[in-house]
Amino acid sequence: MLDFVEINGFPVMVFKGERKWLAGCPHKRRPLRNSEVRGDVIRCPFHGAEFDLNTGRLVRPPESKTSCPEDCSLIEVKVENGEVKFSREPFVPSLPRGQ
Ligand code: FES
Repeated sequence: MLDFVEINGFPVMVFKGERKWLAGCPHKRRPLRNSEVRGDVIRCPFHGAEFDLNTGRLVRPPESKTSCPEDCSLIEVKVENGEVKFSREPFVPSLPRGQ
């Protein structure tokens, strides 16, 4: 139900073969690769933020002293006529230093 691919150097998760999202958590830009998925909701393993994989919306805020940036939703990826478009500026997710 959730596949991981790479598009233009960015890790992308493909939900139900349709919706594509950057596989990075908008909270602290951590990878979502090893996240728990329950139904349509993905849970970031770092601070527990949860996102709806149909809409990309935050459904549960992170458990962290650092709040989410203003637009704390998943970044949508669209491929149209071979052109890749992101719903906002993408980033390459990274682990905290030392991991
Ligand atoms: S990095 Fe995902 S909840 Fe903090």
